[in-house]
Amino acid sequence: MFENLLNVSDLHVRFPTDVGLVNAINGVDLSINSGDIMGLIGESGCGKSVLGLAITRLLQEDAIVNGRINYRGDELHALDKKTMRQIRGKDIGIILQNPGTSLNPVIPIGKQIAEPLVIHQRMKRFAAMDKAVSLLERVKIREPEKRAKEYPHQFSGGMKERALIAMSLANESEFIIADEPTKGLDVTVKKNIVKLLKEIANKKTMLIITHDLAVAEDVCDNIGVMYAGEIVEIAPVERMFSEQLHPYTKGFFESLPARGLKPIKGNSPSLIDLPEGCRFHSRCDHCTERCKKEHPPMIEHEGRHVRCFLYA
Ligand SMILES: Nc1ncnc2c1ncn2[C@@H]1O[C@H](COP(=O)(O)OP(=O)(O)OP(=O)(O)O)[C@@H](O)[C@H]1O
Ligand SMILES: [Mg+2]
Repeated sequence: MFENLLNVSDLHVRFPTDVGLVNAINGVDLSINSGDIMGLIGESGCGKSVLGLAITRLLQEDAIVNGRINYRGDELHALDKKTMRQIRGKDIGIILQNPGTSLNPVIPIGKQIAEPLVIHQRMKRFAAMDKAVSLLERVKIREPEKRAKEYPHQFSGGMKERALIAMSLANESEFIIADEPTKGLDVTVKKNIVKLLKEIANKKTMLIITHDLAVAEDVCDNIGVMYAGEIVEIAPVERMFSEQLHPYTKGFFESLPARGLKPIKGNSPSLIDLPEGCRFHSRCDHCTERCKKEHPPMIEHEGRHVRCFLYA
């Protein structure tokens, strides 16, 4: 086993647009050990999905990517497209955000699960269909044989999410990225998906992107918090939930419905024109002159990491 299965260092992602370059990821460092479940939280637009897509090289062609993404010793962004496709089909699975749009509406669910098996594992079609049915069973879809022949519109939101999870399991990947696996699901369905994720997490390494703190707390070993395209705090899950260090993390926790719904003052910065100094300074009650000018590095504080001069 590799200690660090995934090592992202100094990753930058920019998107050229009509109004300027969007700095979506700004120097992300992230390591995930084999067997670990890393949770990534942060408000909408902070770059969580872009990070997941960058790791799997699923970003649009014109995205500008700099930095390193090392997976099991391979620099993913240096690989040719074919090798990368094989890695995606075999080693890294991704459950994309929005099950509605990640499933093809005109292809039966079973066939969509079977297809990658035919392509990447050269399975015969009927064997791949058998496996698709057993995967649907594994994610606890009832009457899987019948359901495999149905189209996405015949599936509920929770079932679509399960189908996507089945797809990510199809190749027996050791590393799975799940982007908002519980978004838009009602409480009972969510509980079942969380249970399923935990079962999977038992045997795999995962990066789980979520808005939902309860899901993060329940499933993950470590939590990273993102703000304006960078990681501002990272800690083991119990420590993150018992004490938040970064003023943004504190504000983010308090802004959530379960914890008081107290919004953070101000707005997140424009990603086209990033502020100098700490990206959070204009919204922070602890802001000093230094915070306005100097960009804080990741600082080690009592064995965890936080990007804030309060702990320097
Ligand atoms: N193709 C693109 N072109 C331009 N900007 C983009 C593109 N994709 C993403 N962005 C921008 O990058 C930023 C990060 O987007 P991302 O989708 O990663 O956010 P997120 O943290 O996943 O948000 P959410 O929680 O809403 O899913 C956003 O400001 C978004 O508008
Ligand atoms: Mg997202």
